[in-house]
Amino acid sequence: MTPMDVEISRGEYEAVVEVVRRASGMDCGARRPDFLLRRLSERMTSLGVDSLAGYLPMLAAADAARGELGELINLLCIPETFFFRDEELFEALRLRVVPELVRRAAARGGARRLLVWSAACATGEEAYSLAMVLEEALSAVLGWSGSVLATDISAQSLAVARTAAYRGGSFRQVLPSWAARWFTTAPGGQRKVVDSIRNLVELRRHNLVSDLYPVGVDLVLCRNVLMYFRNATALGVLERLRDALVPGGCLVIGEAEQMRGEVVGMERWHIAGRTIWRKA
Ligand SMILES: C[S@@+](CC[C@H](N)C(=O)[O-])C[C@H]1O[C@@H](n2cnc3c(N)ncnc32)[C@H](O)[C@@H]1O
Repeated sequence: MTPMDVEISRGEYEAVVEVVRRASGMDCGARRPDFLLRRLSERMTSLGVDSLAGYLPMLAAADAARGELGELINLLCIPETFFFRDEELFEALRLRVVPELVRRAAARGGARRLLVWSAACATGEEAYSLAMVLEEALSAVLGWSGSVLATDISAQSLAVARTAAYRGGSFRQVLPSWAARWFTTAPGGQRKVVDSIRNLVELRRHNLVSDLYPVGVDLVLCRNVLMYFRNATALGVLERLRDALVPGGCLVIGEAEQMRGEVVGMERWHIAGRTIWRKA
């Protein structure tokens, strides 16, 4: 059986779109109909199921983390990412944002520690980049440490993140001096993040649409995922990200997905041509 032999009617296709949207927020029907159709046909072919009428019940019994629905969502997630994606942003985080977060946290008193969250981290490059930035920025302030919580809905992407080993395209924006400092060479032409950075990163499965959010976060990056959501879903996620932040905590979303609605209690902070959102 080839993907072309699979039978997909309009109504059943819409039903799959709805199941995926409810479970993950991803609005594949509107944003990527051809991609969804292709992935769906390939998946059904590999399972030997030749009609959506036969496939749909397989999605019914699970949540986004498990079973066939989990498998399908894995296939629909695009883990496109690389280290220091948006160099200017990471420089702004290192030179301006992290020092400001330290100042605010010091004024509040309590633990001398920053918590950063890479939400929808895909295969982990963003999370490890943040850990490197934290390490660099905090080395200048005695007695402070930081950690990174890295989450994604895709178990498959998180498994790659756990290896911390990457090749080629992941390194397109890594400065040679940073590459020498933070990576070791690994078998098969890969390079691996050094243990001192890996140890700062905790990887966890988390669905932005349906799971509980962490609290006490100083800085959250949630980039290049809201664009797959409908406006109302994206706004709900933004409100919950705001609630996860400490007062004065910062939120970074993708430059192409700047807020389409107002999020009460967040103000803009423009640095180096980037928009950082700060909790009032
Ligand atoms: C294009 S990647 C973005 C990676 C990284 N943030 C960056 O900007 O380089 C989008 C990620 O969003 C994840 N994703 C999609 N829906 C999600 C959800 N409901 N909860 C958490 N992650 C989700 C996908 O698995 C994918 O890894």
